[in-house]
Amino acid sequence: MKKILLIAALAIVTAIAVLLVPNPLGSKIIAEAKYQGYIPYTTDEALTIAYSRCSTCHGPEKMLKYCARCGPPFIVVSHSMKKYVELTNQKGSNFRPFSDAELVAITQVWNGLVGNWEAGWGEKNIKKLLQGDAALIRLFETPLEGRPIELAMKNKSAPGAHKEESKNP
Ligand code: HEC
Repeated sequence: MKKILLIAALAIVTAIAVLLVPNPLGSKIIAEAKYQGYIPYTTDEALTIAYSRCSTCHGPEKMLKYCARCGPPFIVVSHSMKKYVELTNQKGSNFRPFSDAELVAITQVWNGLVGNWEAGWGEKNIKKLLQGDAALIRLFETPLEGRPIELAMKNKSAPGAHKEESKNP
């Protein structure tokens, strides 16, 4: 009995050490926890994944030059890109699927840096375009005050971006 307790205690201490002391395994576990949505992305991390994850098929200009006249707001674009990745994966490519947590963070980055014209599109239209994507619908229903990454990005600009002036959401 004592031995079992000792082993359990050692296992717990090891697990905590792996997470607390910077090391490749620990950062991998934490990155995965963020991908799965257990730990929120910081603003800097969100910025990094927005550029790295969204610039694999096309360059960042696709996002930076995107505009209210170009098409639906980023929240819808994010949903379409997730669907697109699922489709191309079915055809044999192996791009890591976008997780809900990633898209919620990434959408806020582009909304903040480039522009958010969700309000101009009408709730019904957006929800229809989101095709039941629960995580993005929840984000859509969250006002700016509840979107920490977007709020932090709001007064920043990205090189090459032409920012939409808008007062929403
Ligand atoms: C697996 C490849 C792939 C990834 C990853 C990807 N895209 Fe795209 N994206 C495309 C394709 C294909 C198109 C449409 C063809 C084109 O215009 O080049 C496109 C088009 C776009 C457009 C232009 C849409 C329009 O109506 O003009 C935007 C904006 C965009 N992507 C943003 C994003 C964002 C934001 C992300 C990250 C969440 C992302 N993309 C990730 C493949 C991808």
